[in-house]
Amino acid sequence: MNPADIASWISDAQKAFAAASDLDALKVARLAHTGDKAPVSLASRALGSLSSEEKASAGKLIGDAKAEIAKALAQATEKLEIERDAKVLLEEVVDITLPVQRTHRGGLHPISIIKNEVSDFFIEQGFSVEEGPELESGWLNFDALNIPADHPARTMQDTFFIEPIESGVVLRTQTSPVQIRSMLTQEPPIYMICPGRTFRADELDATHSPVFHQVEGLVVDKGITMAHLKGTLDNFAQHMFGADVVTRLRPSFFPFTEPSAEVDIFFNGRWIEWGGCGMVNPKVLATCGIDTDVYTGFAFGMGLERTLMVRHGITDMHDIVEGDLRFTRQFGVGL
Ligand code: PHE
Repeated sequence: MNPADIASWISDAQKAFAAASDLDALKVARLAHTGDKAPVSLASRALGSLSSEEKASAGKLIGDAKAEIAKALAQATEKLEIERDAKVLLEEVVDITLPVQRTHRGGLHPISIIKNEVSDFFIEQGFSVEEGPELESGWLNFDALNIPADHPARTMQDTFFIEPIESGVVLRTQTSPVQIRSMLTQEPPIYMICPGRTFRADELDATHSPVFHQVEGLVVDKGITMAHLKGTLDNFAQHMFGADVVTRLRPSFFPFTEPSAEVDIFFNGRWIEWGGCGMVNPKVLATCGIDTDVYTGFAFGMGLERTLMVRHGITDMHDIVEGDLRFTRQFGVGL
C-alpha cells in the first residue's frame, strides 16, 4: 500500500472513466474502480490490520484517493449525461413538417352515430334505452298493438314472416313491440326509448330499404297529456335539427295511439314528415295490464335513416346502406 500504488489506482480510474464512451461503459468502470473489489476498497478494508500510526497516514492517502476517484467519476458522469441528452434530442426529434401517415382505424356508421346521439339526448332526461329482439312474435309486433290479423293496418307494413308460418314469428316491422315489452315488464312511470333495426318487404330504392332503423319513445305516467308529447318532440327536434326548427302535429291514424298524429318539421324552408306519434291507446295500456284510470301515455316513432337524410341532405338511401367509406368518413370517425 505505497503511495505510488495508490497514485496508480487514481490514474487507472481516471483513465477508465475518461475512456468510457457512454453511461453503460462508465458503470462497468465504476464497479471496477469503486466497487467492493476495487483496489481502493480492498485497501480501505485492509486498514484495520495496520498499527494506529500507519492507519492514520495510509487512511488519509486512501481517503484522498477515494475522493479523487469520486471526483473523476462525477466529471465523467456529467459529461456522458450531457452527451446522452444531446443524442436523445437529436435522435428523437419529431419533424412536424412530415406528412402524416393516416391509418384508418375504423369508425361508427352514421346510423350508429345518430342512434347514440338520440340515446344520449333521452338518457340526459332520465329515459332508459331498451332493446328488443329483431325476430319478434307477431302478437307483440301486431296484436298487442291493437293490430289484429284482419286489421287493414297490417297491410300498411309489408311483413317478412318467418317459417314455419305457424310459429307466428316475424321480423319486427317497427320498434313498437318494444314498448309492449316495457309495459308488460315494468310498472309505470315508464320513460323509455328504443332505437333499433326494423324490417319491411320493400325494394331498396332512393327512399326505402328493407332493413332500416327506428327510434321509439314511450312515456307512461300519471297525468301525461298531448302537451307533454308536443314538448318532448319539440326538444327532440331542436336537438336533432337545430334551435330554429318548428314542429307540427298533423292528425293521422295508428291503431296503437289515439289520438294519433304525424309529426312534421319545418326545416330548410319546407315541411317534412318526420315520424308518427300519439297518446297510447287505452286498449294497448289495458292489454299490458296498466290501469287506464290512473295512467296515460304517449308514444312516438321515427326513422333514423330519414332523420339522417333530412338533416344532412342525403338524397339516396343507397349511400346509407352500401357502406362506401367515402360516404361514411364525412360523418367523422365517431369512435
Ligand atoms: N310504429 C309506427 C310506424 O312504424 C310509428 C309510431 C310509433 C307511431 C309510436 C306512433 C307511436 O309507423
